[in-house]
Amino acid sequence: MKPILFLLGLGVLTFALGKETPDLAEIHPGEIWPDTEGKPINAHGGGILFHEGTYYWYGEIKEGKTYLPEVNKSWGGTRVDVVGVSCYSSTDLLHWKNCGNVLPAVPSSDLDPKKVLERPKCIYNAKTKKFVLWFHSDSMDYAAASCGVAVSDQPTGPFIYQGSSRPNANNWPINITDEEKKAANSQLVKDFPIGQMARDMTVFVDDDQKAYLFAASEANPTMQISELTDDYLKTTGKYARVFQGRSMEAPAVFKRKGKYYLIASGCTAWAPNAARSAVADSIWGPWKELGNPCQGETSEISFNSQVTYALPISGQPDTFIFMADRWIKDDLADSRYIWLPIKFTNKGQPEIRWQDSWSID
Ligand code: GAL
Repeated sequence: MKPILFLLGLGVLTFALGKETPDLAEIHPGEIWPDTEGKPINAHGGGILFHEGTYYWYGEIKEGKTYLPEVNKSWGGTRVDVVGVSCYSSTDLLHWKNCGNVLPAVPSSDLDPKKVLERPKCIYNAKTKKFVLWFHSDSMDYAAASCGVAVSDQPTGPFIYQGSSRPNANNWPINITDEEKKAANSQLVKDFPIGQMARDMTVFVDDDQKAYLFAASEANPTMQISELTDDYLKTTGKYARVFQGRSMEAPAVFKRKGKYYLIASGCTAWAPNAARSAVADSIWGPWKELGNPCQGETSEISFNSQVTYALPISGQPDTFIFMADRWIKDDLADSRYIWLPIKFTNKGQPEIRWQDSWSID
């Protein structure tokens, strides 16, 4: 082959590969992110645990056909069958090794493929030395609105399913008035005996090792923050209602300079909307809203994404990554990830700006 033809061929090949396989020296938000075997990372609605020098990324496995649910057809939300929870490991946040399906679907159980398993988040309990996976466990019509819990001795599973339940049955929140307790039509009061609804959720471990569940509750308009038991397997019954009527979904929580931060989305199913942020001195509030942390073009739809996690970088106190999902509603398996750095203004306001590519360093 003539050298010029060879070089031309090489150029075309590099261009073609470049489209599908981004340069793994950098993060390319919105592009296919291959794992160490070259397959697209499949970890949606996910979160990351840092443990003993390694990052573990847990997420929803979305594969197969996307279709309308067999219930609530008028609602128009789409779904794929539940396959399980994926786990990937990495030491540099760029190269991710697939550690397999750590909580596979089980027919005729809470983990049935025809149900809902979303937003898995794994936390490590230093006392029990167990890895505890919390997730949104639901019926296909989203009426069960429960939390599922699974436990493992290793970050890479297998996780043993502990059951699903609604938090805080027969307990009143710490910030409710006597008047509110008597409001017969309120979802909170209706759910008092059976436990509070919990849909989009995350779990957060504080510096003192106490852990908390943040969940879209009361049919979604109100978020509830619940304390977890010392083993992280249940809620204690102590909880607070926050952001009443604001319909916050997809909560991501982190702590910076002693303050608690929340980034969340609005409630528009798979369609993107403007993210929200908030700050508090105590995890129980009061929480002060700070507005949309996304700045610049397409910030009104959060760069066409929905937040899922805010990742603190180990050993770098003021460094966080905004992790979000760019959902493809009609082909959920093709949904992508948006990772961007979170910066802070002098007043401590989080700011996220689009970048086509960026380096962790
Ligand atoms: C979103 C939610 C997702 C998923 C979806 C279903 O609002 O954040 O986790 O439940 O609705 O349409």
